[in-house]
This record gives sequence, C-alpha cells and structure tokens, in this order.
Amino acid sequence: MMYSEKVLDHFSNPRNVGEIEDADGVGEIGNAKCGDIMKMYLKIDKGIITDAKFKTFGCGAAVATSSMATELIKGKSIDDALKLTNDAVVEALDGLPAVKIHCSVLAEQAVRSALSDYYTRQGIDPLPIVGEIKEPEE
Ligand code: FES
Repeated sequence: MMYSEKVLDHFSNPRNVGEIEDADGVGEIGNAKCGDIMKMYLKIDKGIITDAKFKTFGCGAAVATSSMATELIKGKSIDDALKLTNDAVVEALDGLPAVKIHCSVLAEQAVRSALSDYYTRQGIDPLPIVGEIKEPEE
C-alpha cells in the first residue's frame, strides 16, 4: 500500500473543510507545477487559534495534509502554529510517498500564509514573524 491508513482516512473524510466567513486570517497558496491550490481560514482569539478550516483544490495528499494541518493547529497558540512544519504533518499522517512531500509543504505554507494575513490585518508587518511564504517548487 502506497498510502497510510491515516492519509486515506483524511482524504476520504477530511476534517475542517469549508470557509470561515468572519475569519481573522485567510491564506492561499498554490503550486504552479501541479496547479493545486489551498485556501486556509483561521479564527484567532487572544493568540489562540480557535478554529481552522480549509478548501483544497488539489490531489488527495493535498487534501489529507491540509486536513491534518488544521487538526494540528486547532486550539494551539500562534507560536505553535508557526512551528508547524511539513515534516510534522507528514509524521502525523504516518508518512507520504516522496513524490507527494510537496503537498505537505503546501499545507505548511497555507497555515503561514493565513497567519501572515492575520498580522497584516492587525497592522503588523508579518515578514519578521512569519517569514516569506514560499511556493513549493516541485
Ligand atoms: Fe500538487 Fe499534491 S500533487 S499538491
């Protein structure tokens, strides 16, 4: 089996799909090569991510990684969410095939992009906090 049970589960039954209308931060990231796009919505209260939803137009691994990423950051502080790496998402899913690692980078960057938007809305320059948002290259 190429995909773990967890990947298949989060692909067929993704958590936190949808939009948050009054989101405090919205991020979007795409990958020019595969054409996949991820949109991430965050609700943030006193530095805590109280809700996270996503919409992913993309491959199964992109759906599974964005689903897992929202699960991993919900209820966590912004600082913890900023520490979320694609490796942590892959690990939580019990692994991904090498050719699908870039999908997890998309999920990591979608979270960062939404946090970046959150700071911008607060009138705070996100760059020193969030860093540059990078499109995964492969
Ligand atoms: Fe591009 Fe999965 S193939 S995000």
